[in-house]
Amino acid sequence: MQVISVPSAPFAGQKPGTSGLRKKVTVFRQERYLENFVQSIFDTLSGQQGQTLVLGGDGRYYNDVAIQTILRMAAAAGFGRVLVGRDGILSTPAASAVIRKWRAFGGIILSASHNAGGPDGDFGIKYNLGNGGPANEAFTDAVYRRTLEISAYNSIDAPDIDLSRLGELRVGDMIVNIIDPVADYAELLESLFDFERIAALLARPDFRMRFDAMHAVTGPYARAILEDRLGAPAGTVVNGTPLPDFGGGHPDPNPVYAAELVAALADGSSGLSFGAASDGDGDRNMIVGRGFVVSPSDSLAVLAANHALIPAYAGGLAGVARSMPTSCAVDRVAAALGIPCYETPTGWKYFGSLLDAGKATLCGEESAGTGSDHVREKDGLWAVLYWLNILAVRDLPADVIVREHWQRFGRNVYSRHDYEGIDTAKGDHLMNELRSRLPQLPGAEFAGLHIVSADDFAYTDPVDGSRSERQGIRILLDEGSRVVFRLSGTGTEGATLRVYLERYVADPDRHEVPTQEALAPLIGLAEAVAQIAAITGRSEPDVIS
Ligand code: G1P
Ligand code: ZN
Repeated sequence: MQVISVPSAPFAGQKPGTSGLRKKVTVFRQERYLENFVQSIFDTLSGQQGQTLVLGGDGRYYNDVAIQTILRMAAAAGFGRVLVGRDGILSTPAASAVIRKWRAFGGIILSASHNAGGPDGDFGIKYNLGNGGPANEAFTDAVYRRTLEISAYNSIDAPDIDLSRLGELRVGDMIVNIIDPVADYAELLESLFDFERIAALLARPDFRMRFDAMHAVTGPYARAILEDRLGAPAGTVVNGTPLPDFGGGHPDPNPVYAAELVAALADGSSGLSFGAASDGDGDRNMIVGRGFVVSPSDSLAVLAANHALIPAYAGGLAGVARSMPTSCAVDRVAAALGIPCYETPTGWKYFGSLLDAGKATLCGEESAGTGSDHVREKDGLWAVLYWLNILAVRDLPADVIVREHWQRFGRNVYSRHDYEGIDTAKGDHLMNELRSRLPQLPGAEFAGLHIVSADDFAYTDPVDGSRSERQGIRILLDEGSRVVFRLSGTGTEGATLRVYLERYVADPDRHEVPTQEALAPLIGLAEAVAQIAAITGRSEPDVIS
C-alpha cells in the first residue's frame, strides 16, 4: 500500500464549535476542505497505528462521499481496522456504544445534528475518543491549530467500496468491517431497561404511542427497538426512513419543528397517549404527553427522581450533571437524594470526565439532550425508553408524572428564546456590552426584580482541572430566577443569540400559569439589560422552546 501525499494549504475557520466542525455542504465540498480537517485530526492523534476506528454518520447529504474519503485517509494514517455502519449510518449514541463495546481507538462521526441537510444544508464532522465521547477542548484546539499550518494530506489510491452489505473488505492494507448500525446499540439499551414491562405497556389497547424519526437517522433504530423487539404496532414509528435532506425538514425535535407530533397529541382525538421524537443524529429527544410537551429540563429532573424504577439505575445515582443554562429542576432532585449535582458549560463534551470518573450517572441539557454513563453521548432513544419504563411501572400518563413532580419539588418554569441568523458583529457587540456592564448589575432593580449577582460563567473541570472561560452571561435574581445569555456554537450562518429564562414557582396554585406569561417579567429584564431589539433590530425571537 503506497501512501500518497497530496499538497494542500490551510482553510480559515476550521475551528470546531460546541460539537465538532459544522459548515454548509457547499463549504465542505471545496476541494481539500474535508481532507485538511481529517488530516489535522489524524496529525493530532498519536498511537493509532494498527488500531480500530469507528466511522459513521446520520446519513445526511455528503455522508457517503465523505466516508469513502475518510476510509482512504484512515488507511494512509495507519489504522488497522475501521468499523463502519452499513450504508455509512451510525447514530451518534450508537457510534459511542460501538466505540466502547469494541474498545476502539476512537471514532469519526459525520453529522450536523439537528441542522437542516441537503446540498444547500449543513454538514459536520467530529472526533470521539476511546471512551466513546466527544474529544475535549484541548484536543479540538490542537486540531484547529493544525488546520492553520497544514501543507499536505495523506491518502491511498483505492476505489470506493460497497457499504451496503455487511461483511469484511479491505481498503489498502486496512480491514473494513461493515457492521449492522443497530445491533450493538439495541443490545445495550435492552440491558438497561425492563423490556418485558415496556412491551406489556405497548401491548395495552389503551396505550398508543408515536415516535417521529423526522426522516433522520433514528428511523431504523426505533423500528428495530420499538416495533421489532418491543412489539409496538407497525406504524408506531413515523417518518422512519432516513433521507439525505430529511425530507426538506429541520430534524430538531422541538415544538416548532415537530409541530405535527405535538398537534397529534393536542387533544384526545388521535387516540395517542404518548409521543416522542429524535433529531438528525439521534442524540436529542422530545417527550410529549397528551396536550403536554415535557420541557427537557423537567425531563432530566423526572428521570433522576424516578431512577429507582429502572433496572440499570435502581442501585442509585452517583451524581447528576447539567449544563449551566439548563434549569435547576434537577438540582432539587439531587438535593433530595443527597447526591452531587454538577454544573458544566454547554456541550456534551464537558460531561465526559464526570462520567468516566464515576461522579455522575445522569446528565442533561435544556436543548433536548439527556443521557447516562451507558455511553458518552446524549441519547434520544435511551430517553424515550427510560420514559416508557417509568410509565409502565407507575401506570400514569406523562403529564401527570410531571405535575406530581412539580407538586413535590416546585416548578422551575423555563424557556429558551433564540434569535437566529443575526449579524455576527452585532451578536458579538451585544455580548461584549453585556460583559462590560456586569460589574454594575448586582444590586440593580428592573421592574421589581432584584439582581443578586451577575457573571460570565467559567468552569474548572473537577476531574482534570481544565478551565473553560466565557461560557455564558448569567444574571441571577431573587428566589431562584435566572436569565442567561450566550451565542450558539453550532450555527453555520451569522450568529444565534440564545436567551435562557427561568423562574422557580413553589406554589402549586401557580404551576399551570402559561410559561411565557409566568416568565414575562424576566423577558422584560432580558430586553432591558441586553438591549436585544436596539442592537440586533429584532423585536421577537425566531424560536421559542
Ligand atoms: C446546541 C445546544 C447544546 C448542545 C449542542 C449540540 O449548542 O445548545 O446544548 O450540546 O447544540 O447538540 P449551541 O448551538 O447552543 O452552541
Ligand atoms: Zn444531535
